Amino acid sequence: MIPTSTQHDPRTDPWDAASLGQRFEEVRSRTEALAAPLSPEDQTVQSMPDVSPTKWHRAHVTWFFETFLLAEAEAGFAPFQDQYWFLFNSYYETLGPRYARPDRGLVTRPGVHEVGDYRAHVDARVRDLVDTLDEGTLEKLVPVIELGFHHEQQHQELLLMDIKHVLSRNPLQPVYAGRPVERCEPDDLGWVEVEGGLVEVGHESAGFSFDNELPRHRQWLEPYRLADRLVTNGEWLAFMADGGYERPELWLSDGLARIRAEGWRAPLYWTEHDGLWFEHTLHGTWPVNPGLPVAHVSFYEAEAFATWSGKRLPTEAEWEHAVVTDGQGGQHGRDDRVTGNLGDDGSFHPRPAAPAPAGSRLRQVHGDCWEWTASAYHPYPGFHPPAGAIGEYNGKFMSNQMVLRGGCALTAPGHARTSYRNFFPHGARWALSGVRLADGGA
Ligand code: AVJ
Ligand code: FE
Repeated sequence: MIPTSTQHDPRTDPWDAASLGQRFEEVRSRTEALAAPLSPEDQTVQSMPDVSPTKWHRAHVTWFFETFLLAEAEAGFAPFQDQYWFLFNSYYETLGPRYARPDRGLVTRPGVHEVGDYRAHVDARVRDLVDTLDEGTLEKLVPVIELGFHHEQQHQELLLMDIKHVLSRNPLQPVYAGRPVERCEPDDLGWVEVEGGLVEVGHESAGFSFDNELPRHRQWLEPYRLADRLVTNGEWLAFMADGGYERPELWLSDGLARIRAEGWRAPLYWTEHDGLWFEHTLHGTWPVNPGLPVAHVSFYEAEAFATWSGKRLPTEAEWEHAVVTDGQGGQHGRDDRVTGNLGDDGSFHPRPAAPAPAGSRLRQVHGDCWEWTASAYHPYPGFHPPAGAIGEYNGKFMSNQMVLRGGCALTAPGHARTSYRNFFPHGARWALSGVRLADGGA
């Protein structure tokens, strides 16, 4: 069993040494549990530049605690291995040169066991630090420790997305986890009307958020409608059958150039055999199930599908405001822990739309697939990244990417939030991304 989440709720109880230590243990052990079914060979491969090897994820999240916590706070700090500083720095320019991302799969050493030693070594030093620091010093370090937890959870999700891609390249159709659901048909799609007006968006609670979810600010929304579930494979098959990938009038110019250059004519992981479509999943390759949400489409494809449907993609403010007014922003406030098909049950695949929670109408809001929005990933008004290397975490990527909302079936338990802003370039398909339609308004 993959361990899930803790009893401690940082929105109501302040962190102390014991609760920090316990959460650290939980987050670190979940990473190892996710990697455990993977052989050393599985953990070494990089199937494309966007994908990182499993063992690189395991090491990089460790490097993050070593760099941003131990190096800052430990008396007489020395790194575990000098070269790890270079090898496992992902993108922090401020911290000096680093190993080229597209070549991560060429690094056969350290092996998975040495990465395990690195993890154990840093774990022990973090535990020691948390246990021995005086309360005042520890309190100052809480933000970076908490960021370390959420950072490692982001990489747990990336680890799963990445290994899915790695295994997709293996003709033996390996199984990582889970089982397919029964074949089913899409149910009726409903529409939720939202009044709009002057609304507020952005993170609002005592709990953790990334810097990019702030500041909370006002937005004007024209009245609009949001689909009550995600677009399904069945609907995507209809789009394909109607020449969706061949009709230039449905596509943005950049999108058309991309699908032509790459030869895309179906979502990533779909293959056609004797006129039938199959989908690679983390539980092997199976016939495309029409009732499941379509997954692994790019922004370009999501946008073209919306155009074909006579609809559009929602903006991120429309998405967030609709979810909050629908009562799914959380129990105690906007950013309470949310429910949905997130990575809790270990099946790691989108499911057919279940009924909305009691009193709400929108289905599949959190979990299943990250939902492409029509919003470019830009800073909220008044956003300033923090000083120092940690300021590179989110802010410097605010160009040429689109925002996705909601979370997916690979997202770590307790990690998703209504105000969460995920982001990927327009052409990215290996993330577990899907589509929710909007209509009217903007
Ligand atoms: C938010 C998923 C785009 O992959 O770079 C990992 C997450 N940030 N380490 C990424 C992240 C720092 C980020 N995404
Ligand atoms: Fe990272």
